[in-house]
Amino acid sequence: MTILQEILKPESLASIMEQADRAEFLMEAVRGKLLAPENKKEAPRFNATQLAALCDVDRNAISYRLTKGDLPKGVMNESGNRREFSLEEAQVWVREYRAKFLKPPKADAVCIAVANFKGGVGKTTTTMTLAQGLSCKGHKVLVVDCDPQGSLTTLFGILPATEVREEDTILPVCVGAEQSITPAIRKSYWHGMDVVSAAPLLYAAEFTLPSRQMKDDSFKFWDVLNVALDEARSEYDIILLDTPPSLSYVTINAIFASDGLLMPLPPNALAVASAAQFWRLFSDLAGGLVEQRGVTKEFDFVRVLVTQVKTRGNDDATMAIKDWIHKTYEGKVMSAEIPETKATETSAASFGTIYDESSKSMIDPRTYKRAISAYDQATDQIEALVRASWQRQQAE
Ligand SMILES: Nc1ncnc2c1ncn2[C@@H]1O[C@H](COP(=O)(O)OP(=O)(O)OP(=O)(O)O)[C@@H](O)[C@H]1O
Ligand SMILES: [Mg+2]
Repeated sequence: MTILQEILKPESLASIMEQADRAEFLMEAVRGKLLAPENKKEAPRFNATQLAALCDVDRNAISYRLTKGDLPKGVMNESGNRREFSLEEAQVWVREYRAKFLKPPKADAVCIAVANFKGGVGKTTTTMTLAQGLSCKGHKVLVVDCDPQGSLTTLFGILPATEVREEDTILPVCVGAEQSITPAIRKSYWHGMDVVSAAPLLYAAEFTLPSRQMKDDSFKFWDVLNVALDEARSEYDIILLDTPPSLSYVTINAIFASDGLLMPLPPNALAVASAAQFWRLFSDLAGGLVEQRGVTKEFDFVRVLVTQVKTRGNDDATMAIKDWIHKTYEGKVMSAEIPETKATETSAASFGTIYDESSKSMIDPRTYKRAISAYDQATDQIEALVRASWQRQQAE
């Protein structure tokens, strides 16, 4: 065998297919191992101090209220020295103490699309952490995975390739078989947070939506998800849509269905340049729809969340790019920033986020604290925007 033959070993299509099988098999094996014994993710539990922080009261207020016996009591842990509350129990407490921050009776859910043209900027991580953070604050959350990669679905402990059927996704509404996404909504491992999954089969939407438009002039290819979310808007408090790294037909639908638009953006030149193209492409498309189809659309808010900020080496270049981001998106950049952190990497390695970490977490406590306070701050700021959006609805 010549050196060239050794380097360039031909790979047949059959061997690539075999590779695909092997990757899928290994993925299932890893998932099985990580989520043993029941192959299911578990929601976190809370001690009284954590519960007090969620309710924004003193730890003693929790002890006192426990004596009244009108809220869930939790259970003592195995060693009998600490009371623990399930997520569901904690949410009952939080809803009691944070009643004035929750959705007003007749308001609709506020829908937020998390979007950016560029891959790997933190869209899925942002969607999931916000959903979990907002759920811990007592809101009823629906998460819709609009990305055929199904990364968000994976964070729910569901394997897109083998465990997601068409009827669990938004595909039926894209093909016109369903008018509403409600039949696709599933309960998840996390009480108070439901999910519509995604899988590679959702790529079909990219052919179906334009083809429906070609056949029927009155069809609104950008409005399908918006209409399909109608029922869910009264059922939930907040709806979060994770989108693929492209301005696909499904992304356009997610954006047009939303009251708020959130763009995660790492402070690096390529990501910032790509974001500029995203806004250009989107505004060209929207301009066309305004001109040709008389479309009108108003967002309650558009925000940029600076993500994956390198804490060490916060050098001149990074500072200059951050400055550039602030100038470009004046008034739209959230003051919360997400650092690039081992905490996110470590939790992602077991198909989770920092909010899935338990007391047995492998993450260094200081790293954990820094990271969670950044995610909590982002959640607080999004909650404030959501509340303003509810107020706007009520003023109408
Ligand atoms: N703040 C962070 N610190 C460290 N790693 C991060 C952080 N945010 C995200 N990551 C990691 O970066 C990778 C990409 O993140 P994520 O999947 O959220 O991006 P995305 O924009 O949704 O990607 P895609 O465009 O492929 O959908 C993941 O492995 C994730 O765990
Ligand atoms: Mg993603």
